[in-house]
Amino acid sequence: MQTKGLPEKRLLKELESRLVEDLTYDSGRIVGSMCTSPHPLARKVYGRYIDTNLGDSGLFPAATEIEKETVRMLGTLLSNPEAAGHIVTGGTEANVLALWTAKRIAKRTRCEVIVPASAHCSLDKAADMLDLKIVKIKLNKRFQVDIEAVKKAVNSNTIGIVGIAGTTALGAIDPIDELSELALEKGLYLHVDAAFGGFVLPFLKDLGHNVPGFDFSLPGVCSMTIDPHKMGLAPIPAGGILFRNAKLRKKISWNIPYLSGGKTEHATVVGTRSGASAIAVWTVMRHLGREGYRKIVKNCMRLTSKLAEEIPKIEGLSIVMEPVMNIVGINSDVFHIGRIAEELRLKKWAISLFPRHLRIVIMPHVQEEHVEGLLQGLRKIVNTLKG
Ligand SMILES: Cc1ncc(COP(=O)(O)O)c(C=O)c1O
Repeated sequence: MQTKGLPEKRLLKELESRLVEDLTYDSGRIVGSMCTSPHPLARKVYGRYIDTNLGDSGLFPAATEIEKETVRMLGTLLSNPEAAGHIVTGGTEANVLALWTAKRIAKRTRCEVIVPASAHCSLDKAADMLDLKIVKIKLNKRFQVDIEAVKKAVNSNTIGIVGIAGTTALGAIDPIDELSELALEKGLYLHVDAAFGGFVLPFLKDLGHNVPGFDFSLPGVCSMTIDPHKMGLAPIPAGGILFRNAKLRKKISWNIPYLSGGKTEHATVVGTRSGASAIAVWTVMRHLGREGYRKIVKNCMRLTSKLAEEIPKIEGLSIVMEPVMNIVGINSDVFHIGRIAEELRLKKWAISLFPRHLRIVIMPHVQEEHVEGLLQGLRKIVNTLKG
């Protein structure tokens, strides 16, 4: 830091020129991310209320109430208006909080949590922090957790199971109904990671898609992750952790006695946290309403279907599975998929690469012309590789 401060104008200019090399969502080149440009209204209220602090709830009782209402709205979306929880920093923190809760309920040290092989790496991080053993279960042909293998893995050290409603790699949905039955039968904690799917599946259901049970309507589900900063169009950071009831949330609640707003309690990893996130989620959800999200999801799915139909027409390319939500996995029996990814990245397409496939996520900022452009790019790359 220099001794003398610099004028605002100069700094803004410098930032503009330095940050220009970062990709923007509206360029349409970001086709592999689960994030998107936040809704303009959410952006506006985020800036306006950035100095509220939900970590000191006594100072900001109104913002605290808005967070509660937001959690109730999310709970209602996931079939449980009684849900308790928080708007947190993202899916990672939400998953940490879920496993933390499972561990505190179990009150044991040597514990195991069963997760699908498709689980997001945040669950590995959570297990490492909490000193839990993660037991990964193979997937079936539809990229869902193999339920028979889950049953076999349950033992006396098992404290919980995680199911995923919208896997990171492909958007697949685990058989949550069967996991729920198993969890109830064995007295295990069941967490559903719907970080991505939480803002997609309810609207797909409205649109008449055949959506299996994945939420609190299943009695074994104890907690869920749902991320407004993914398909919820909220600014980063905005994840959601929802517990079936306030009693579960209480398991990870800590009394904080010293704050200027008076005694409070935290059931989050972080202490100080801006209320802007919850306020922005509250605003965008009320502004768009169910109808608004339905329209957005409908358009994303239209473009997803188009992409999924066109990919197999490109010689040597195929799709990994019929998309369930707005995620398309592309693979190839002919070309090394890493090579195709490399070529796409050289052409400034920000795609996501998994060990055996490329992932395209059709987020709300992706338009028809971007899908056309991507297909065009893929055709050219394949032609060059063939030659
Ligand atoms: C299913 C799932 N869970 C959790 C996460 C982690 O979310 P975040 O990056 O917001 O921490 C992701 C991220 O993509 C995800 O796909």
